[in-house]
This record gives sequence, structure tokens and C-alpha cells, in this order.
Amino acid sequence: MDVVRSLEAFRRLRRSWPDQGPEVCLVPTMGALHAGHLSLVEAARKRSDRVVASIFVNPTQFAPGEDFERYPRPLDRDLKELERLGVGAVLVPEACEMYPAGHRTQVLVEGLGRKLCGLSRPTHFQGVATVVLKLFHLVRPRAAFFGQKDAQQSILIRRIVRDLDLDVEVVVCPTVREQDGLAVSSRNRYLSPEERKAAPVLFRSLQWARREVARGERRAPVLLAGVQRCLGAEARVRVDYVALVDPVDLEPVDRLEGKSLLALAAFIGTTRLIDNTWLIP
Ligand code: PAF
Repeated sequence: MDVVRSLEAFRRLRRSWPDQGPEVCLVPTMGALHAGHLSLVEAARKRSDRVVASIFVNPTQFAPGEDFERYPRPLDRDLKELERLGVGAVLVPEACEMYPAGHRTQVLVEGLGRKLCGLSRPTHFQGVATVVLKLFHLVRPRAAFFGQKDAQQSILIRRIVRDLDLDVEVVVCPTVREQDGLAVSSRNRYLSPEERKAAPVLFRSLQWARREVARGERRAPVLLAGVQRCLGAEARVRVDYVALVDPVDLEPVDRLEGKSLLALAAFIGTTRLIDNTWLIP
């Protein structure tokens, strides 16, 4: 497995791959790999023998006061996992190369980045969009793999691909969950044992909504109030938002008429977790 730290060395490696060779598949990550990331790598490996992973804790998607400094960086362990899964190359760029002095260009996806998680993290998606577009240019993948847990991120990246005519297929893989339903996330490790016990309420509240929809409920206010009620049953949970939105433009829906995204974010202690599910009438 090639572990490449400089952008020029990566470009050289990329140029050495023939156009007729295996499709290039990209799995962008911030490292601290968990079962969710590994499922993306496995999906990419099923599709191609030429999988590139990137590991970059992207500073521009963290706001001041968020967890950029303490974000886990177990690089050696991550590289071993990627090698075991048959990844061909790992790009581990330095922040000073990704964002050299004088870097001014940002990718702004009008509207989408300011909804849902963007309300409490207004600069987050601009940082994500910019780094993902840079990775797409560096790696030139045929397909890139993202997790459904970060639904808003995938929707935003699909929009960039469409709006900027990029020749990249955005593959979204199902959320991987712990046995009790908690979506796996690098941030779960911040939870205290008591908070970890409380955390599956996020999944349970989504499940409650799915059951109500299966029973015929279509009114968004009723579904949203019910989810809030489920979450409220755990004293340690502070809801950031619960929303039922259209899966393309993330506009709120009043009534469940077509496939819609039920998304939520909540703080458990100081840790902010997100989760979502599709609701299909
Ligand atoms: O989902 C993530 O881990 C990050 O947002 C991504 C896509 C690697 C961009 O930094």
C-alpha cells in the first residue's frame, strides 16, 4: 500500500495509473476509522482493485471551540486496517499543503449548507465541500464512497457533482450501527459510560417515527413532536434539531407524500451526535 503525504507525489502516482486500468474509487475520511468507514472501504473494494483512501482531519470544517484539536488521530492503526482491507493508496496530506498561505477559494453550496446541521455549524459544509472538491481533483475517482449517517453531507456532495458536471459517482452506503442501534461515529468515544447508555435513544426515536409511518401517520408536525418526546425521555439529551425534509433540497415537508429524510442532531453531555432515517409513505 502506498502511503503518500505530499500532493505532488500523489499526483505523480495518479498519473502512473492507466485510464484503461481498474476504476479509481475514493473513500475520503478524517481517520479514526471505525466499522462505518471500513464498510465504505469494503464497498469500494468490491467494486475495484484500485481503492484510494484519504486521511485528513480537515481544519476548515471545524468551527473555533469544536473538537479539531482533540479529534482522534490513530494513524498507524488506521493504516494497518486500510492495508488489511486491500486499499492500494492512502493520501495523508499536510494541512499546510491543502491550505497553503493565501488560500482563499471556498466552495459554497447555496442554501443546502445552511440548513439542518448548518444552522448550528454555519461554516461546516463550506469546509467539507471545499476539501471534497480538492480531493476529487487530486484523486480523479470514478466513484467516491460516503456514509448515510452524514446524509446532509452526501446530499450536498451530490449537488456539487451535478452542478459542476463532475464525472464522479457518489455512492452512499448504509449507516453501520452498534447492537443497541447507536450509529457508529468517531465521536462516540467522547461519551461517558452513562452518556453511552443514553445515546441509543436517537435511534429509538427514529424507529418510533418509522413505526408511526407504517401505521399510516403522514403529518410532519405529529411525527416531529413524537420524536422530540422520545428524545426528551432521556434527561442527558439536549436536542439541537429534528427535521423532516425533502431529500434533494432539504426543504421541510409538512406532510409525508414521498421519500423524505428524518434527520436529527442532539447533544449528549457536550458531545453532538447526528442520525437520520428515510421515511417512505
Ligand atoms: O465525513 C467525513 O469524514 C468528512 O466530512 C470528509 C468527507 C472526509 C471531509 O473531510
